[in-house]
Amino acid sequence: MVTETTPAATPLQADDVGAFFAKSWALYRTMLTGNILSHREFFDVLKRELAERMPAGGRLLDLACGDATMMAPAIPAGADYTGVDLARPALDLAAECLRQHGISATLVEADFQVFMAEAPASPAYDAVVISYSLHHLETAAKQKLLNDIIRVLLPGGALWVIDGMRQWGDDRPAWLDRLWHVIQTRGASLYSPEELAAMKSHVWTSDFPESSAGYAAMAIRAGYERWEFLLGEGEGSLGMFRATKPGAPVSGVGGVKEDQSVGSEDDEG
Ligand SMILES: C[S@@+](CC[C@H](N)C(=O)[O-])C[C@H]1O[C@@H](n2cnc3c(N)ncnc32)[C@H](O)[C@@H]1O
Repeated sequence: MVTETTPAATPLQADDVGAFFAKSWALYRTMLTGNILSHREFFDVLKRELAERMPAGGRLLDLACGDATMMAPAIPAGADYTGVDLARPALDLAAECLRQHGISATLVEADFQVFMAEAPASPAYDAVVISYSLHHLETAAKQKLLNDIIRVLLPGGALWVIDGMRQWGDDRPAWLDRLWHVIQTRGASLYSPEELAAMKSHVWTSDFPESSAGYAAMAIRAGYERWEFLLGEGEGSLGMFRATKPGAPVSGVGGVKEDQSVGSEDDEG
């Protein structure tokens, strides 16, 4: 079943995202189908990570879920999935995609920053994911989001981030050159020159990635216990990390909850 709540976005962000959707969603879809930004490689790793680390029936929060087409196949069977996005058209597509995968979902139309600032600490999540969406925020807002996310994670729960990441020593222009080389090379046969120009303008004005070391420092400041770089792609312009909250998982990982485990004392004899 899919339930939806009232929009919580600021008007400016809602307008921006609405405008993006009207003009650019088809361009983004081509990014996915052409694997220009290595979604396949990143989501293969994510699928494995979630299967290994989430308990059966665990709670998964996907911030800026978009149309959920990459995420849906990575969601462990039986997980309790919540997707958050500002764009109503994206959520409508996500609802259909998740239905086709047989996933029971809650979809929330909201600005993820507002959603996270207001999210109660309970019930908490086993896993939080944000992919290809953090780079628009200023550094301080990224830190605030990481702080807000750890508050709603269960002990031993984890945050996965997939996004543009600068190499240590790369300034923003160097990162833009790296990313643009990838998009231009892989997208040459998929986009018209006008579409490439529109995307270049969007990236140059809107993308502000941190370095992976910067993200590690942010995670430590927020109180995460472990920070692990999982995969780099896109000629060093894109990365994926996991940040884990301290504490032992409340329930067993790898698909078995403690209260569902076999071989307990009661079973013996
Ligand atoms: C590049 S898409 C990424 C979608 C998906 N996570 C993926 O990996 O394919 C960015 C998504 O972020 C959403 N978005 C951007 N800013 C947002 C915000 N402040 N709050 C909620 N959603 C936002 C957009 O509506 C869009 O669906």
